[in-house]
Amino acid sequence: MWQRRYNWVLASTVALGLVLTVLLIKLPHKKDIRNAGVAIFKGHLPPVPDYEDSHVAHEDAYTEPKTTHTSSGSAGYTIHNPAAEPVTTSSVTTSPLKSTLNSNSTATNSSSISRQRIDQFVRSILDFEDDDTFNRLSCPSSVGSRYSQLRETADTSGQVRYFFALNMGESARVITRMMSTIVEAMRFLGPKNCAVSIVVEKSDDGTNEILAELKPRVEAIGARFFLDEVRSIPRNSTEALKEKRVAELRNKVLEPLKFVGAQGLIDDLAGIYSPEALIIFVDQIALCPEDILELVFQHVKQGASMACPFVWTGNGTQFGDLLVSRSLAGDTFFEIPHDGSLAYSQDLFWNDEASRGHFNTSRPFQVFSCWGGMVTLDAASFAEKTFRFQSSRPGECQMASAMLLARDMWRRGRAKILAVPSINVARYDEEAVGAKALRGYVSDHVDSLQPRLNQTEYISWQTKPPGMIKCLPDLKHSKWIAPT
Ligand SMILES: *[C@@H]1O[C@H](CO)[C@@H](O)[C@H](O)[C@H]1NC(C)=O
Ligand SMILES: *[C@@H]1O[C@H](CO)[C@@H](O)[C@H](O)[C@H]1NC(C)=O
Ligand SMILES: *[C@@H]1O[C@H](CO)[C@@H](O)[C@H](O)[C@H]1NC(C)=O
Ligand SMILES: *[C@@H]1O[C@H](CO)[C@@H](O)[C@H](O)[C@H]1NC(C)=O
Ligand SMILES: *[C@@H]1O[C@H](CO)[C@@H](O)[C@H](O)[C@H]1NC(C)=O
Ligand SMILES: *[C@@H]1O[C@H](CO)[C@@H](O)[C@H](O)[C@H]1NC(C)=O
Repeated sequence: MWQRRYNWVLASTVALGLVLTVLLIKLPHKKDIRNAGVAIFKGHLPPVPDYEDSHVAHEDAYTEPKTTHTSSGSAGYTIHNPAAEPVTTSSVTTSPLKSTLNSNSTATNSSSISRQRIDQFVRSILDFEDDDTFNRLSCPSSVGSRYSQLRETADTSGQVRYFFALNMGESARVITRMMSTIVEAMRFLGPKNCAVSIVVEKSDDGTNEILAELKPRVEAIGARFFLDEVRSIPRNSTEALKEKRVAELRNKVLEPLKFVGAQGLIDDLAGIYSPEALIIFVDQIALCPEDILELVFQHVKQGASMACPFVWTGNGTQFGDLLVSRSLAGDTFFEIPHDGSLAYSQDLFWNDEASRGHFNTSRPFQVFSCWGGMVTLDAASFAEKTFRFQSSRPGECQMASAMLLARDMWRRGRAKILAVPSINVARYDEEAVGAKALRGYVSDHVDSLQPRLNQTEYISWQTKPPGMIKCLPDLKHSKWIAPT
């Protein structure tokens, strides 16, 4: 039944698109509801694309798949007629882009890792559960029905509702768990409801080649996949330059939200993207599908404008998002004295009683700002350019672009920013093993069969920012400044 439905949906996108899709939704919908409460993840999902010997599969891989959509991938940037298109305000549109589709990147012999190694990576990404070529964080193989609604509501619109935004580069160390998790989350959320946009810096470790191989496989299950390659900046660049670059690349990865093929800028999300679409930024981190699903679930159920997990270093012992995170007291999550010591790192939310209570019991709470290796954001406000990533101006206290974004949100009265301590992630698999062991998996904290928030989880949002916030350009320098 499900298998058939999925095939139908694929076929309908080829032939008739939305019309058929909408008709189809009606039939199997009841089945979803009847199964509510049963753990689902397997059996009801579209199949993982077969990973054939890459030399055979390669031929199709680089023909632009016309089956999925008209504005596919990097082609959106390279094929359009610039003259017909409104000028964008993004400062990076002129950067030397190289579309992987046009550049023959894997056909040429430029790869720094072997063909066979690339195959191993791609195979492991597509084999969520069983591949043991790489040592990676292990993730639960089933996800509870708590998250079924996320797919059901998306299915009814026939539009893209989940937009994964990834900035990558030299990512081989974490790519198998990270991308495997993202592909698995998309399968759960319904691939046709999902798009993934990746801006990848030219890397020496095969990252570009792996992603180029992955693109057609992900498109084959029905998701949109935008892939753009940019040059990396010199490692010896100043901190200010690096931060400026981060902001640029984050804006860049959101560009497919604003372009629909060659038609240029659209001023709303009607059409391809649902007006309720969410951006899911995922940094290079090791995480599990439930981490993504719970974050999206919290964002939607709480009516948040931004939600973040907790990222850990030191094998789970040290909170890792020091520079961006501020509690509602305006302060860092733990005290960082002017010698830059992390001596107080175990005393989280020492001056914010309410947050501390929520943190202790792994319930979500409002913060001034956070990032945590991953965030959800409302796509509409970025597509409409209400918000964009910026960097500090010379002369003002230097803040990370994520903190400037939070500040902007407070300024506009749209700062429902949520920290979700039931979600714990880390930069690398080895560290994530410790983080999960010490801080718990999502399913250790929430009832994964309960499709609604516990009464004790609900946030009562504060609309007034803290009186002052701590600006922390680096660990040894801090300054209290106005919050907006
Ligand atoms: C791509 O590769 C093919 C064969 O290897 C070659 O004929 C073609 O010119 C290349 N295209 C570009 C844009 O480099
Ligand atoms: C790639 O180039 C290296 C040396 O530049 C050569 O030895 C190797 O055979 C080439 N591989 C392929 C697949 O063309
Ligand atoms: C960075 O390194 C390059 C050489 O690798 C050098 O030419 C350049 O001047 C350096 N820039 C800075 C800001 O140190
Ligand atoms: C939170 O936990 C810490 C240590 O586990 C404890 O000292 C503190 O009293 C708790 N705070 C609240 C508000 O529950
Ligand atoms: C990290 O934590 C895990 C789980 O507690 C443990 O097995 C591992 O040995 C730890 N690694 C290090 C380097 O301490
Ligand atoms: C809500 O959470 C509290 C504390 O974790 C728990 O005691 C209670 O049973 C939960 N209620 C429901 C309806 O799950």
